[in-house]
Amino acid sequence: MSEKLKVAIIGCGARGKLSFGAMLKDREDCEVTALHDTNIVRLKHMSGYLGGRTYTNLDEMLDKEELDCAIITTPDAEHERCAVKALDHGVNVLIDKPLATTAKGCQNVIDAMKRSGKTAMIGFNLRHNPVLKKMKEIIDEGVLGKIFLIENREFYDGGRTYMSRWNGVKSYSGGLWNHKGSHDFDIFNWYLGFPKPVKVACFAAMNVFRPENIPFKLEKDIPVGPGCSCCYYGKNGICKDAHPEKGEMWNEEAVREDGYRKDSCMYMSDLSTHDNGFAIVEYANGAKACHMECFVCGFSERIYTIAGDRATAQMSLHKRTIRITDRWTKETVTYELPEAQGGHGGADPLLLESFIRAVKGETENLSTLEQGMLSTSIAEAAERSRELGQVIKL
Ligand SMILES: NC(=O)c1ccc[n+]([C@@H]2O[C@H](COP(=O)([O-])OP(=O)(O)OC[C@H]3O[C@@H](n4cnc5c(N)ncnc54)[C@H](O)[C@@H]3O)[C@@H](O)[C@H]2O)c1
Repeated sequence: MSEKLKVAIIGCGARGKLSFGAMLKDREDCEVTALHDTNIVRLKHMSGYLGGRTYTNLDEMLDKEELDCAIITTPDAEHERCAVKALDHGVNVLIDKPLATTAKGCQNVIDAMKRSGKTAMIGFNLRHNPVLKKMKEIIDEGVLGKIFLIENREFYDGGRTYMSRWNGVKSYSGGLWNHKGSHDFDIFNWYLGFPKPVKVACFAAMNVFRPENIPFKLEKDIPVGPGCSCCYYGKNGICKDAHPEKGEMWNEEAVREDGYRKDSCMYMSDLSTHDNGFAIVEYANGAKACHMECFVCGFSERIYTIAGDRATAQMSLHKRTIRITDRWTKETVTYELPEAQGGHGGADPLLLESFIRAVKGETENLSTLEQGMLSTSIAEAAERSRELGQVIKL
């Protein structure tokens, strides 16, 4: 392995540039030598920002470059294909969550990892969030006793992240329980010590972002969209949800390349996914966990309740607080965590650091592909539960 790790970024969009690109730029032990994206406008933009040789063809990049690592930040449905190819070329990979869009796809990546003997990590950055990490330490110290119930409610006022682009389209993301919820299912699995999930049930719907719910009157012969930046109602201040994208990576020139808009009308979303819902998991050890997600609200917050047979924890990610109340004495201990530098409450730099250290052999892999597969399996079952209106046995 060379002195500086030679890194490629596969998928040069928001996460590829603003998270990993920006962090790699500041690291002295890594050099971004190659970039791959199918959109030439974003590829050129990224190379101007980071340097690195550009490839619109992944096979060509993997054949020509001597890479130590690749960071995969394409839409979810491409993770499996890109990761398998990179591993088969002997490249260590950090795959942003979710691992793949199906459990079978996850297994294919695991098989490729085993064939290659390389390090492959799933980008579960939430595990590095200081508040969630502190809670894990408290759990591991046995303060809560045996955990039998976890509840997590996520309110997200950035509905546009999921409703305006590929993320909410099932063929690209496996559905929002996978794209978004796989983070949350992983936190359940991690806190509980990875027991086997046995049953999954889900209630979810697209209640708000539907064409018939557009909250203003349409003028005759003037449809909404296709993107906020060119929508009559967005441009004239009629639509309160308008969020035009104008950046160089997402302008009309980039859209002409592949038709991908980041500001598609939220009300014309893929109705096979949801803008709110509950997913409930039961584990073989009797523990139960419920994740609620709501993408139609005026604030953002992630609130957890974790019940053990000795104490109960209440946690707020946005307030960065943890309160532990003893079951018998009623004594309450409150932890207030300081604000941390870096994306996702300070989690992103720690995720990248843990990958680089695992590649260098300095630490073990903290988030394995098998754990990535477990959360995608729960997500897949939640999607199926919604489709069939049944509890799914895993
Ligand atoms: N861990 C987190 O907190 C977190 C946060 C945001 C996104 N993500 C994940 O990061 C990944 C990227 O998300 P994003 O928001 O940056 O998306 P994005 O749409 O901003 O960027 C994706 C990029 O991939 C490119 N692309 C599309 N198909 C491709 C292909 N076949 N080969 C190569 N490149 C291709 C697109 O042109 C685009 O530039 C997703 O898997 C998402 O789930 C994780």
